[in-house]
Amino acid sequence: LKLGVLISGRGSNLQALIDACAAPGFPAEIALVLSNKADAFGLERAAAAGIAIAVVSHRDYPGDKPAFEAAMDVRLREAGVELVCLAGFMRLLSPWFVGRWQDALINIHPSLLPSFKGLDTHERALATGVRFHGCTVHHVRPAMDDGPIIAQAAVPVLPGDDAHRLADRVLEAEHKLYPHAVRLIAEGRARVDGDLVRIDGPAP
Ligand code: GRF
Repeated sequence: LKLGVLISGRGSNLQALIDACAAPGFPAEIALVLSNKADAFGLERAAAAGIAIAVVSHRDYPGDKPAFEAAMDVRLREAGVELVCLAGFMRLLSPWFVGRWQDALINIHPSLLPSFKGLDTHERALATGVRFHGCTVHHVRPAMDDGPIIAQAAVPVLPGDDAHRLADRVLEAEHKLYPHAVRLIAEGRARVDGDLVRIDGPAP
């Protein structure tokens, strides 16, 4: 399965996908890494791995989100991308783009959805006092951090945690979860059925 990975920054989840795809027998490859920021560190990770990169800056399309998204869409299609993976991509995508990639566009979010949509999830988890936190890979729908859940991983909130320590623990889980979710899709074992994803086959 050909992946397009959309990033805006650090790209540690991108790195996890790069590493997973390099393993023998992994059923996906990264055809393109696309960033809306020219200085995203993730672009260096992709280049180091010999993966094609592209920058489509939203700043080149002031006030024209359709043109920005159309430019991204063209790059992804030219690269033969079959599944778009958002990995720290910080622009909200329009219903047009989401519809273009219906059920072929996934995101990783640092919380156990539907709790803590949006930003600052670790601070909010601590402020709420939940004892478990985690991450979710889900199909993208037009509403932010909404859509059929493919996979989740939980981590404990421990005494003495601050947002930084908790974020590190969640990030470690993210780096395992994203390749796992991509594998499920690439193997045809995660089927969208209405608002849900049905998983076929044995548990991991
Ligand atoms: C991750 O926590 C991801 O869940 C969220 O943004 C962060 C991106 O980190 N959507 P990285 O760029 O993958 O290192």
